[in-house]
Amino acid sequence: QTGLTALDYGFVNTASTKSAITYIDGDQGILRYRGYAIEDIAANSSFLEVAWLLIYGELPSASELAAFDERVRRHTLLHEDLKRFFDSLPHQAHPMSVLSSAVSALSTYYGDSLNPHDPEQVEISTIRLLAKLPVIAAYAHKKSVGQAFLYPDNSLSFVDNFLRLNFGTMAEPYEVNPVMSQALERLLILHEDHEQNASTSTVRLVGSTEANLFASISAGINALSGPLHGGANESVLTMLGRIRDSGESVERFVERVKNKEDGIKLMGFGHRVYKSYDPRAKLVKESADAVLADLGISDPLLDIARELEQIALDDDYFKERRLYPNVDFYTGVIYKAMGFPTRMFTVLFAIGRLPGWIAHWREMNDDPQTKIGRPQQLYTGAPARDWPQR
Ligand code: SDX
Repeated sequence: QTGLTALDYGFVNTASTKSAITYIDGDQGILRYRGYAIEDIAANSSFLEVAWLLIYGELPSASELAAFDERVRRHTLLHEDLKRFFDSLPHQAHPMSVLSSAVSALSTYYGDSLNPHDPEQVEISTIRLLAKLPVIAAYAHKKSVGQAFLYPDNSLSFVDNFLRLNFGTMAEPYEVNPVMSQALERLLILHEDHEQNASTSTVRLVGSTEANLFASISAGINALSGPLHGGANESVLTMLGRIRDSGESVERFVERVKNKEDGIKLMGFGHRVYKSYDPRAKLVKESADAVLADLGISDPLLDIARELEQIALDDDYFKERRLYPNVDFYTGVIYKAMGFPTRMFTVLFAIGRLPGWIAHWREMNDDPQTKIGRPQQLYTGAPARDWPQR
């Protein structure tokens, strides 16, 4: 009613913040972790080496990485009481809800590592989270399929331990498929950080109140679960399956998206920052071909995804709005080929993103300059008025 605009109020976006961790150029489709291009990282590194890079700012030496890897392995066991936590949950519980609840519960077991200003406590809670999140995730999966939980095998690598916890059983030894292991390592690396996305901003905002790391990460997991964010990889598979099962042509589906019928979107397309092809999507798409071929799987959903991409990239609706495939568009097809249920896809995103969340939380605690301040608002409600005489 005032006719004034946000700029008249001097309204600036106080939610923006500084960080030295990840750089994105949305127009050029550039993504760098601590200055290194994502293409180089994905081709040459490992999940824990990238986690070290994001958290400490430099690549580790061979001995630093070996010691880090060993520390993570030695913290994979969950407290036996925490394993009983899963008994209280229904088998149909969504694994993302299980993950955020169990991570929040970790703070009740580790009261000795909650102080965000004690470097040793920050260090041990970092290691505990990196080690235990994959175990909690695997137990959520086992719970949903009614199978017994396995104990971690610390003779295995980070990724192989996770694969065995998900797909191994008490009945027979489990042989890790090296193709799956290498593909999953690459996918987790591609998710390790992405600047100030919704879940990372959530972790920073919760952490800015000096809440402990477990509580902050639990909040980030909840933010990630939304279908417009991390939940998109699950929604992409649901979308592809509906197209396959409906018998509807891909062209017809795209027309319905363009007409915004029932508010449907082309899930896995579009991005708040990338107004060009998400560099991670390119790398995932390359993996999709290799993994399915190596696993001897041909999945019609991958063909539908490719056809969708081709039609959309040639269509003015998407070109005008600069909508391209994002990281979530092809990941689900690979996770499905590996044997993960669709509801585990966003959990895999969370395991990948954990090092980035931790790096941002620690950066924010180490440098108050990078704290997200209390976001300002522009009041647009009723002007001051007297209480009615009644
Ligand atoms: C992730 O931030 C990050 O970094 C996130 C992430 C990370 O690593 O953390 O990269 C991970 O969350 C990737 C995004 C996953 N989400 C999806 O795939 C869900 C589908 N995508 C959309 O919901 C959407 O594209 C967003 C939310 C991701 C981004 O929205 P934008 O680009 O800010 O655009 P908008 O919502 O303002 O829409 C602009 C126009 C609208 O049409 P008009 O009103 O102009 O007619 O584009 C349309 C929208 O309807 N549009 C889409 C669309 N996305 C936007 N139309 C069809 N399909 C889509 N996917």
